[in-house]
Order: sequence, then structure tokens, then C-alpha cells
Amino acid sequence: MKSVLFVCLGNICRSPTGEGVFQHFVEQTGRAHDIKIDSAGTIDYHTGNPADSRMIQHASRRGYQLTSRSRKVNTNDLQEFDLVIAMDRNNHRDLLAIENQPSAELKLLSHFLDDQFPVDVPDPYYGGPAGFETVLDMIEAACPSILKHLDTKRA
Ligand code: 4NP
Repeated sequence: MKSVLFVCLGNICRSPTGEGVFQHFVEQTGRAHDIKIDSAGTIDYHTGNPADSRMIQHASRRGYQLTSRSRKVNTNDLQEFDLVIAMDRNNHRDLLAIENQPSAELKLLSHFLDDQFPVDVPDPYYGGPAGFETVLDMIEAACPSILKHLDTKRA
């Protein structure tokens, strides 16, 4: 069993989308049984809340159901997951402040993308509809490479 945790700031827009889209991808590729997928945020402001209704709606139009509830990332996550994927460089920095020697491998989502995409997955929270589409575009594009990467990790 390999495990991956998606992390953003609030755990209501970008990382629940990472969780839902990658879950859908591994189901489509017949790998759902051996990959554990979760998401969390670096702040606890939205703890217990479902994903942002705008994010749910944009994801749903592409066939993804976002069902996660917001929770804050913790030290255990950074020890127990095989791979932790931060949506932007602030999230990455905040994760290292929680645990500066994580046993989890810590990567930016854009590590799994080519150079046509920005380094950070832009935070869509205060913007318009296009921002939610960009989140989906970037996460969808990263899925094959994330799965390949998990497959290179020790059993
Ligand atoms: P997320 O988006 O980090 O992609 O979940 C945000 C959600 C909430 C806030 C900021 C970003 N906020 O400031 O409450």
C-alpha cells in the first residue's frame, strides 16, 4: 500500500481536488486497492467543513465528487504518508515548519508537471471561476506522473 497526502492552505479548494481527482484516476486505472489518498490544510480555520461549494461545482462538471472534510495537517502525516504533495511554495514552507525532517517525501504539485504550468497552483479562493478550472487542469495533468512516481517508491 502506497500513500499520498495532498496539502493546501484551507483544505477546501485545491487539496480536496487533488484527493478527489487522483482517487478517480487510480480507480480508472484499476489501482484504487493499493493506494491510500487523503488531503489536509496547513490552517485549521475550515476544520470539519466540506470543500468550497464553487470547487465542488467545477469538479462535478468534470465528473469528480469531492467528499472530503477539512482537517489540519499534523506531524504524524509527515511521518506516515509516503508522499506529501504541496500545492504551492507557501504550503511547502509551512509543512517544513511543522516537521523539518519528514520521513514522507515532500514535493510540489508542479514537480509532476512540465514547464508550461506555473510553479504554484494558484489559490482560487478569492478569484473568479477561471481559477477553479486552473486547479482542475493542473491536477488532472499531474495524475499520471504522480502514479508513476508512487510506483518507483519502495514497497
Ligand atoms: P485552499 O483555498 O487553500 O485551496 O483550500 C483557500 C481556502 C480558504 C482560504 C484561503 C485559501 N482562507 O483564507 O480561508
